[in-house]
Amino acid sequence: KILILDFGSQYTQLIARVIRELNVYCEIQPCTSPINWESSIKGVILSGSPFSVNDPNAPLVDIAAMAEKVPVLGVCYGAQLMAKVFGGEVAKSNFREYGRAYMTHQDKEEKLLFDISAQSQVWMSHADSIVRSPEAFEVIATTENIPVAAFKCTTLTTHPMFGLQFHPEVTHSIEGKQIVRNFLVHICGMKQEWTPAAFVQETVERIRQQVGNKRVVMALSGGVDSTVAAELIHKAIGANLFCIFVDNGLLRKDEYETVLDSYKHMGLNVKGINAKDLFYGELDGVKDPEQKRKIIGRLFIEVFQQEATALTDISFLGQGTIYPDVIESVSVNGPSATIKSHHNVGGLPEKMNMQLVEPLRFLFKDEVRRVGKEIGISDVFLARHPFPGPGLAIRILGEINAEKVALLQEADAIYMENLKESGLYNQVWQAGTILLPVQSVGVMGDERTYEFTIALRAVTSTDGMTADWAHLPYEFLAKVSNDIINKVKGINRVVYDISSKPPATIEWE
Ligand code: XMP
Repeated sequence: KILILDFGSQYTQLIARVIRELNVYCEIQPCTSPINWESSIKGVILSGSPFSVNDPNAPLVDIAAMAEKVPVLGVCYGAQLMAKVFGGEVAKSNFREYGRAYMTHQDKEEKLLFDISAQSQVWMSHADSIVRSPEAFEVIATTENIPVAAFKCTTLTTHPMFGLQFHPEVTHSIEGKQIVRNFLVHICGMKQEWTPAAFVQETVERIRQQVGNKRVVMALSGGVDSTVAAELIHKAIGANLFCIFVDNGLLRKDEYETVLDSYKHMGLNVKGINAKDLFYGELDGVKDPEQKRKIIGRLFIEVFQQEATALTDISFLGQGTIYPDVIESVSVNGPSATIKSHHNVGGLPEKMNMQLVEPLRFLFKDEVRRVGKEIGISDVFLARHPFPGPGLAIRILGEINAEKVALLQEADAIYMENLKESGLYNQVWQAGTILLPVQSVGVMGDERTYEFTIALRAVTSTDGMTADWAHLPYEFLAKVSNDIINKVKGINRVVYDISSKPPATIEWE
C-alpha cells in the first residue's frame, strides 16, 4: 500500500481518491502519528498544508528516515518541506500562484514524468515557493513563474525523493493522474491490482478469520453502507450474522416493508422491529431540533440493545462505517464546532461492549457502491439517495406526530416518484420534502383552504459537505407541485428551496 501523510490540506482525500482509482490501495494518516512500518508500505506521499514551512509551528516529519525505507513524494507543502530540510530555500512568492500553470520538462528518461507532454497544464495553489533547490536535488521541471515545479534526489537516501510544487491530484492538472501513476508503478513498483473483486475476496477472508465461528449482530438502516457491509459479512459467515432493522416511524412511505422484504430476498437473517409508538410517544411535544435528534439516537440504541441482548452468544458488532468517518484530519483551526449532532448506526459501539467488524472502514462512498455492484446488490440500494438517521423527524419542523408523518410521507412519495419517472433522481445527490409548520390561505373550487406548506429540496454534491441546490426544470417543479396539492389533503402550497450549503445546510433541522 501507499501511505499518505496528511499535513491538513483540503486536497489530501483527493490524493487518496486518485490512487484508489488507479487500483492501488492507500491509507491516510495524520503527519503527527508515528508510522507503523509494515512491509506492505511501498511508498509515502506527503500532502499539502495550509501552513508555511517557515512558520515556527509548521508540522515536521523525518523525510530522510522515510526515504531509507521507501520512495517519498512530496506534494506542495510536502515538496517545500523537503526543500527546506535538505538545505534549499523556501520563501513567499513575489506573487501568489493559484490556478493554471504550464510545466515544462526536458528529460525524456525521467521516470516520474514518463509519457507527460513537454508542456503540461498543472494546477498551482501556493503562497510560498521553492526559490533555491537543495544541492543534492535536481530540478526536473519548471513553469514560466517558478524555477522548481518538480525536483528529485537519488543520492542522499536509499530510495529516491521527489517533490512537486503543483497538485497532481486535482483534475485541472491534466496529466496529474499519469504522474501519480508513474510514481506508484515506475518508482514504487506497485501493481494496479486493487479492484472491487480483489477487495471482496480479501475482506471476506479477513472477516472469516476475525470472527471464526462466533456470532455477529448488526443494525441495518436501508442505506447503501450498512447493506453492503452486511452482505460482505454474510458472505463470510452466513447464518451467524443476525441483523436488526428498526421501524422508528420516521422512514419514507412503505420503506420499512419494502426494505425488509429486499433484505429477506438477499438471504439475510433479519428481524424487523416495529417501534413506531415508542418513538412517537417520546417525541410528543418536543420542538427543539437537537433534542429531537438526541431522543431518536437514544431510543434507537435502547431498542437495538434490547434486541441484541435477547440473542445469545453474540461476540461482535457489525457496522457500515466508511473511510470519511474515520479519517482523522489534521485540523488547523482546532476541533470544529458541532453544527448538528449527527446520529446514525455508527453511534452504537461506545455503549456496547463488543468487538467491531467494519468491512468498509477504508472505503470511500463510491467505492462502497462499486463493491456493492460486484457482490450483486440491487440498484434499489446502490442508487438510493442518502437519508439521515433521524429520518423525517428532521424534515418536519417543530413538533412531530403520526398525522404529520403520514402527510409528509404522501407528499414525499409523489416527489420521489416524479424524480424517478423523469430520470432526474440519479442526477441529484439527495432530494427530500420538508413539512413547514406554517399554514396559509388557499382556494380550491369555491372553498377557502387553510393548510400546510411543503418545501421541496434537491441538491447536487459529491460528499454532502458542500452542496448546491439542483436547478430542476420549472416544468418538473410545476408538475410535482400540482400533483402534491391535488393529491395530498392538508397541503395547499409547495415551495422550492434555492439555498446552497454553506450557508444553509441540506436538511432544515
Ligand atoms: P446537513 O443537513 O448537515 O446534511 O447539510 C449533510 C448530510 O448528512 C445527512 N444528515 C444525517 N445523516 N444522521 C445521518 O446519518 C444525521 O443525524 C444526519 N443529519 C444530516 C443529510 O441528510 C445530508 O445527506
